[in-house]
Amino acid sequence: MIRLRVHPDRAAAVTAVAADIAGLIRDRARAGRRAVLGLATGSTPIPLYAELVRLHREEGLSFRHVTTFNLDEYSGLGPGHDQSYRWFMQRQLFDHVDIPPAETHVPDGLAPDPAAASAAYERAILAAGGIDLQVLGIGRTGHIGFNEPPAGPATRTRQVHLDELTRRDNAAFFGDIAKVPRHAVTMGVGTILDCRRVVLLAWGEGKADIVRRAAEDTPSDDCPASWLQRHPACDFVLDPAAAAKLSPR
Ligand code: PGA
Repeated sequence: MIRLRVHPDRAAAVTAVAADIAGLIRDRARAGRRAVLGLATGSTPIPLYAELVRLHREEGLSFRHVTTFNLDEYSGLGPGHDQSYRWFMQRQLFDHVDIPPAETHVPDGLAPDPAAASAAYERAILAAGGIDLQVLGIGRTGHIGFNEPPAGPATRTRQVHLDELTRRDNAAFFGDIAKVPRHAVTMGVGTILDCRRVVLLAWGEGKADIVRRAAEDTPSDDCPASWLQRHPACDFVLDPAAAAKLSPR
């Protein structure tokens, strides 16, 4: 079931989600357990990571008992490439908080055997006890992670082909579409559905159509995000522009 949470603006949305994550981290730490977070990249979660860094610096939020798993990585890009998602996570979050480096996981875009590395990634998630809370963005194709349509609940971590619309949407970051990789490694829709909680963030009018399809259309592999309707605890956290096409309720 999707709970829609429309905030007055994205700053208010991000403050609420960061407070939720901070509560989870502190609850787990009090119980002597690690919090396992699933993390996303792209422009959408950047202000969320800035707020988590602020909570660390100004309000003593510690990440020592946090383990993270990122959704995806471009195939062919190593951790030193400035468009790799490992690089992104280091710059946006990991370098600024006290998380143990060995507790941060991002799929390896250079793995010589992507199928074996993907299976190992799934095993690592299970060994950590599963993901407590997965942060998601949504692509205009309806992708979550890099699960381009068609993709459904049976999909697990694997190498995928990127949709041309996704490559175009990301071309600005690379300076030239020819430099955008054609493949990526991503958790599957099924991997995401196994997370105990899911929080999908979307801002701006460019996301309004796909947010409506994901939240309201019958779930189908043509819009992988629509499978989140089958998740027992999924929030869509939106600003008014991203929520603009939802049916009145
Ligand atoms: P964006 O990408 O945050 O850069 O809009 C979201 C996504 O593709 O999942």
